Amino acid sequence: MQFQLSEEQLMIQQAARDFARQQCLPGVIERDEKQQFPKEQILQLADLGFMGMMVDPAYGGAGLDTVSYVLAMEEISKVDASTSVCMSVNNSLVCYGLQEFGTEQQKQQYLTPLARGKKDNDLYIGAFMLSEPEAGSDATSQRTTAEDKGDYYLLNGTKNWITNGGTASVYLVMAQTDPSKGSRGINCLIVEKNWPGVVVAAKENKMGIRASDTHTVMFNDVKVPKENRIGADGFGFTFAMKTLAGGRIGIAAQALGIASGSLEFSTAYAKTRKAFGTEIMNHQIIAFKLADMATRVDAARLLCLKAAWQKDNGQDYTISSSMAKVFSSETAMWASTEAVQIHGGYGYVKEYHVERLMRDAKITQIYEGTSEVQRIVISRGILK
Ligand code: CAA
Repeated sequence: MQFQLSEEQLMIQQAARDFARQQCLPGVIERDEKQQFPKEQILQLADLGFMGMMVDPAYGGAGLDTVSYVLAMEEISKVDASTSVCMSVNNSLVCYGLQEFGTEQQKQQYLTPLARGKKDNDLYIGAFMLSEPEAGSDATSQRTTAEDKGDYYLLNGTKNWITNGGTASVYLVMAQTDPSKGSRGINCLIVEKNWPGVVVAAKENKMGIRASDTHTVMFNDVKVPKENRIGADGFGFTFAMKTLAGGRIGIAAQALGIASGSLEFSTAYAKTRKAFGTEIMNHQIIAFKLADMATRVDAARLLCLKAAWQKDNGQDYTISSSMAKVFSSETAMWASTEAVQIHGGYGYVKEYHVERLMRDAKITQIYEGTSEVQRIVISRGILK
């Protein structure tokens, strides 16, 4: 067993840490308050090669491993989970899906600019569309339809809570082609935002990750060429599940970052804040809180890295990514709440960052599969 990161992985970790401190931290409170999309930060991530980290360089990617992706996601999420979710969706739901299951034409046309995060010197990112008003956890109940019209599909329906919904140029849309086949009648279609019939509805006003761009998107008689279907007819639900298994590693790493950020902010505060004649770190009740936070953060990190390592080494990571996600997200919620408690009244106001981490933590227990869904995946996996 080897716990040592490679030179390259350490370099990526440091680059992400520097980026988070220098480019994300300065405006993060204001962007959260104004719900302002971090376009400048995403373009910088694109220049760092972080928008297509695991994509083959032949298709515009950085050719790195999933372990490096986890390291980068943790560092950026310590400071700015709104920026990191945009990065995560583009990397592990959109680029991974296209790289693994796309045709050569789809890779040339869509994956290459998506992995670069840029086209014609402007932002070019993707969104993943599975959730609907009546299909969240129950994802097989897709109401969006993709009617087979010979050489194209006619797409109709509504998708909800779509990360990058307004800023993405390309959508991967799950839709039902043959309801009689249930989940085997679902297809995944590549849709461009500027095609006729695509309507981006108002942005959601969220509790956390407020600077990220979350929308409802509607499709009204959108004509999608057959060559924009990913995989064979009826592959869409399997595509979504396989892609989400990797996506959950990204969100687990985001949650890990929120938890370890909570620990870092709290440790720094406990060393300087005085109460009862001494720095509060000298009170055992605070020191023990920090000890528990550090222990759970380390456990979460090991689960994230194990899932990433399994993915990099061709092993099945479905169960381990769900374990990493459920544990890391619950750790993020708990650790960020502890961080607010350690900061006392200062924790309840914005300048000290931990109230934002607490609000941001909540979504990690919900998106890319709720904690309940992760437990379904884990229990089915161990019981079968
Ligand atoms: N890999 C491959 N195939 C899989 C699979 C996997 N990991 N998981 C399921 N499947 C297949 C099954 O084998 C089955 O295929 P067959 O019918 O051919 O046997 C088919 O998919 C249906 O599977 P189930 O019978 O297990 O389906 P279910 O209705 O019991 O649901 C579920 C299972 C795990 C609850 C699933 O619906 C699920 O994961 N729901 C949560 C959806 C989710 O994560 N949504 C997040 C939205 S994306 C997002 O949040 C992005 C963002 O913007 C941040």
